[in-house]
Amino acid sequence: MKSKKTVIHPDAPGKILWNLVTAGMVLLTMIVTPLALALELPLGPGLIIIEGLVSLIFLADVFINFRTGYLKGNQLVTDKKKIRQRYLRSWFVPDLLTSLPFFLLPQAYVSINRFIRFFRLVRVLKVFTLFQAVNRIRRYKVSSNFLRMVTMVFWLLLTAHFIACGMLLAGGIPRDLSPAMRYLQSFYWTITTLATVGYGDITPDKTNALQVIFTIIAQMAGVGMYGYVIGSVTNVINRIDISKTNFMEQMERVNAFLTYRNISDKVARRVNDYYYYLWDTRRGYEESNILNRLPRSIRLQVAREVHLDIIGKVELFQGASLALIQDIILHLEPLVFIPGDCIFQEGEIGDEMFFINRGKVNVVSEPEHETVAVLKEGEVFGEIALFYSQPRTASVYARDYCDIYSLNREDFDRILARHPEFAEKVRELARERWADSLIRQDAYKPE
Ligand code: CMP
Repeated sequence: MKSKKTVIHPDAPGKILWNLVTAGMVLLTMIVTPLALALELPLGPGLIIIEGLVSLIFLADVFINFRTGYLKGNQLVTDKKKIRQRYLRSWFVPDLLTSLPFFLLPQAYVSINRFIRFFRLVRVLKVFTLFQAVNRIRRYKVSSNFLRMVTMVFWLLLTAHFIACGMLLAGGIPRDLSPAMRYLQSFYWTITTLATVGYGDITPDKTNALQVIFTIIAQMAGVGMYGYVIGSVTNVINRIDISKTNFMEQMERVNAFLTYRNISDKVARRVNDYYYYLWDTRRGYEESNILNRLPRSIRLQVAREVHLDIIGKVELFQGASLALIQDIILHLEPLVFIPGDCIFQEGEIGDEMFFINRGKVNVVSEPEHETVAVLKEGEVFGEIALFYSQPRTASVYARDYCDIYSLNREDFDRILARHPEFAEKVRELARERWADSLIRQDAYKPE
């Protein structure tokens, strides 16, 4: 029990914050360490503070990793021994190496063997921990395209930075400039080389083998990266809005059908309007298709959020118990009507009641075709037919584009039986309106 307490959950907010801090330090290291080496910056107080801080944080990260549980499938492993073994076998060695303060190697020693200073670059290995971080982000609601673009730009810039530092080390940039200017020129050379532009205004010293070889490598990397970038960008653009592409294809098919069947322009316009309205309001997603594939518990959570707006709007649901809301939301069927659509006719047998989420409808009394009421979002209709098992007392027409949820008779009866307080509210509403419609019918009765 005691050991469980001290194990950190990999998704705990504090741990995520810590990961962000470490990632920031990794980034700082990626930039500063190769740069300091390439420009041969003296180890001043600024650099000592940065490198020291990075060392401390990386070291703390090693300790924290020994205490962080991991997920096996969806099961959190909290057994300290297992955590330790797993860490020792995976990231422990690189993590420890990268946290060692190589930058403190005595300067004298460094000048004896100039290659020893490259030990400092070991830190760059820590960049691989970023992969783990990115993999975890995928579990959140991040668009994979977005993540792909960001990762690609990140690696491109980082590679360009490394190559620019390499060119500085190879001595390809004049030494008589300021450090900032030298880096800028080197970065400029890198970008023109990698982008295969190659203006040729900064070139390697052709008598210096190291510079020439380095340039060849950079050019080859450039060709590869160029191809990779073009490929990735094309891919991302193609997938950027997969639902929009699907929608466009669907519209092509629908319109081809309308032409083939010689449908009149007026009706074809309505069909198009309908599809575009669906696209505008729900991006082409078939709610029920997505919901029905989920297990019941998750479906309930998603449905609650999807239908949050309607639950908040409808007067009848105000003050409703959670149980009632859960009962109703899983049975609401979304429907769309376009202006002028007849939702049902007076005298029909009714099997559903309706909740208006968006738009307005006209309640029309048929003999005179008189509009007796205009119902707007948050209001309901069609309850009389269900409650009193009567034919519809009026016709209902969509006044504009309407998003409406329907509830069928079976579910209506069950819900009313289970939730008497809701039944009472519906009864109240139905009685009032029915009385109204009886008065109306009396008034129209032929003498
Ligand atoms: P129902 O009879 O099932 O079908 C027509 C619907 O119109 C009816 O249920 C009520 O929901 C609604 N309705 C009828 N009369 C009125 C009214 N006077 N005001 C508002 N709504 C009404």
